[in-house]
Amino acid sequence: MTESHQTRRPLVIDCDPGIDDMAAILLACASPEVELLGITTVAGNVSLEHTTRNALRILALAGRQDIPVAPGAARPLVIPAPRRSQTIHGDDGLGGLVLPDSDARPDPRGAVEFLAATVRATPEPVTLVAVGPLTNVALFYALYPDLAARLARLVVMGGSIGAGNVTPAAEFNVWHDPEAAYRVLTAPGLPRPVPTTLIGLDVTLTTALTPADLDTLRRSDGIGRVLADPFQRYLDSYRRVLGLEVVAVHDAVAVLEAVLPGSIQVQPARVTVDTTLGPSRGNTAVDLRAEDGATAEPSTVQVGVAADPRAIAEHLLTRLSSLPTRPGSGPGESAQ
Ligand code: RIB
Ligand code: CA
Repeated sequence: MTESHQTRRPLVIDCDPGIDDMAAILLACASPEVELLGITTVAGNVSLEHTTRNALRILALAGRQDIPVAPGAARPLVIPAPRRSQTIHGDDGLGGLVLPDSDARPDPRGAVEFLAATVRATPEPVTLVAVGPLTNVALFYALYPDLAARLARLVVMGGSIGAGNVTPAAEFNVWHDPEAAYRVLTAPGLPRPVPTTLIGLDVTLTTALTPADLDTLRRSDGIGRVLADPFQRYLDSYRRVLGLEVVAVHDAVAVLEAVLPGSIQVQPARVTVDTTLGPSRGNTAVDLRAEDGATAEPSTVQVGVAADPRAIAEHLLTRLSSLPTRPGSGPGESAQ
């Protein structure tokens, strides 16, 4: 089969839009290697109502209102997270970017039933990319273990080998629902393991877009230009909160790994999630030591350890700039 007729890998994104979730969704829409079968939404950066509304509007912006959006969990499995990410993503979740409403409505099946139905109905194994708290994925694993085991792979944006971003110890997605992250990354409990790749801050902060990349987007046509303002807001937040001069499009890097497998250099590891209530809650303890027989548990995930920042940026900029906006769906335009 020639490259041009290569089948598009079926993909579902579970997310909490979120500025970088928006980049992730648009990247999938701009990537011919994959077919985005649907979006499932979860509470995280902002409420489930906002993340779902944002996902619908982002797809409308790309002219892809045909892609279903199925809302999932409105709160973590066990303990509500003390705060969300409004300081980073804005109260609306998109950094103040006001997009017209979509004509589409949320899929009434909800996230877990949508995932089950999609895996059941898709002949080729589905790739799931989770770029928000892992509540929906944990529920899918618990309610439909046999269907979850049929996933081609799970790519997670979350955790870190080193420091966190929401606390010194924890990265936001894992911190927001550590029990869910534990069920997915440490003890999935499936009849067969799902090949899982964990893309943490160690990779996403070193492959962030630069202010110069932001200028490139601002000069581009189509959706790239629309992203420039919310990305600027994201950069300003990261400068203010973390002292970093970067547009950390964490979620888009995870989707790029699903679109172009092998973009991120990985190592096998055992990952343990801290679900205690102390200061290290949500920490991901990543054991990269070789399996020398001394460790009781086999490796559970492939953990991202490095990537070529400019290669990643080039793919993101080229693809995001290639997407036209659907007339009437851009900021300040009235939906037709
Ligand atoms: O820590 C980064 C993650 O938290 C990203 O998914 C971002 O959208 C926020 O949800
Ligand atoms: Ca996210």
